[in-house]
Amino acid sequence: MDKDVLILGIESSCDETACAVVKNGRVILSNIIASQADFHERYGGVVPEIASRMHVDAVYPTVRDALDKAGVTLDDIDAIAVTYGPGLVGALLVGLSCAKGLAYASGKPLVGVNHMHGHIAANYLCHSDLEPPFICLSVSGGHSEIVLVSDYSEMKILGATRDDAAGEAIDKIARVIGLGYPGGPKMDKAGRGGDINAYKFSHTHMKDSLDFSFSGIKTSALNQLNDLKMKGEAPVLADFAASYQYHIASELVRNTVSAVNDTGIRKVCLAGGVSANSFLRDLIDKTAKKEKFEVFYPDLKLCTDNGAMIAAAGYYEYIRGVRHGIDLNAVPSLSL
Ligand code: KG4
Ligand code: ZN
Repeated sequence: MDKDVLILGIESSCDETACAVVKNGRVILSNIIASQADFHERYGGVVPEIASRMHVDAVYPTVRDALDKAGVTLDDIDAIAVTYGPGLVGALLVGLSCAKGLAYASGKPLVGVNHMHGHIAANYLCHSDLEPPFICLSVSGGHSEIVLVSDYSEMKILGATRDDAAGEAIDKIARVIGLGYPGGPKMDKAGRGGDINAYKFSHTHMKDSLDFSFSGIKTSALNQLNDLKMKGEAPVLADFAASYQYHIASELVRNTVSAVNDTGIRKVCLAGGVSANSFLRDLIDKTAKKEKFEVFYPDLKLCTDNGAMIAAAGYYEYIRGVRHGIDLNAVPSLSL
């Protein structure tokens, strides 16, 4: 393709209103993120109705900023990509309605993007030579999946959580030990320098399956915290946070190694908010050296929700001819 393709990507599935302009699916021209996290912190989690209302206020200024920062106008854009699921329905509808309005008014094509597909595509923005096939460990607040990415738009889930997502399990314990919301980054920081072997957690390991279960680990952590509380004691925060995250990372990495060996594909990407976790990154790096596979992960600020990843995934959908009508609806439980 000789002409550059510019995609405007809009994301509003949870508590970030985000918009970006990306060139040829690989180069970020702008990436604006209006986070609501500080606002939801007082409630200990995302309040869906408040999230939707805040998206309404933020979405058009975010689009305008993204176009201005990229030094382009809507006329220069080839297509408008937007997250249409999975996510909170009211939140999704705000970004989707904005994208539909822009597409209708400008006559530009509308391309709906799966949010989890976007997380995987964040890797293309950071590794210019990365191409499928690869195995992707996709871990966010709502999903924990091992995905076989055989082509840019062709993927298959090889294993997934049967209960809690890894991010959910980390956020819950972060809240119980008083770290607040959003728990993941705070747990990560709290555990730095802690002893990963100080506390042990029981868990369920699925035999002959790449599936995960994190609710047992979470319950085991809750029970230990309750036992300590009954004795008037508290855990050593750094050690507890380190042991808990290391334990979750071990489960994620163990199944990822099985997927590498099962498929013979020795290239692994991490994706989603939890891929920012330093315990997970350290462990996968060490394991990759030992087991001899390559590892890629997005830059820290592209691990969590952003518009650039939606534009990157949207680019690959756009060049293969995907177009959506303005009847495209939000699909809160959209699967890969
Ligand atoms: O991908 P994401 O931004 O949103 C969803 O699609 O869910 O992921 C959010 C999740 C939250 O559970 C958050 O606590 C977690 O990612 N997270 C982390 C870290 N940064 C974000 N978890 C562990 N360590 C981190 N550094
Ligand atoms: Zn996400």
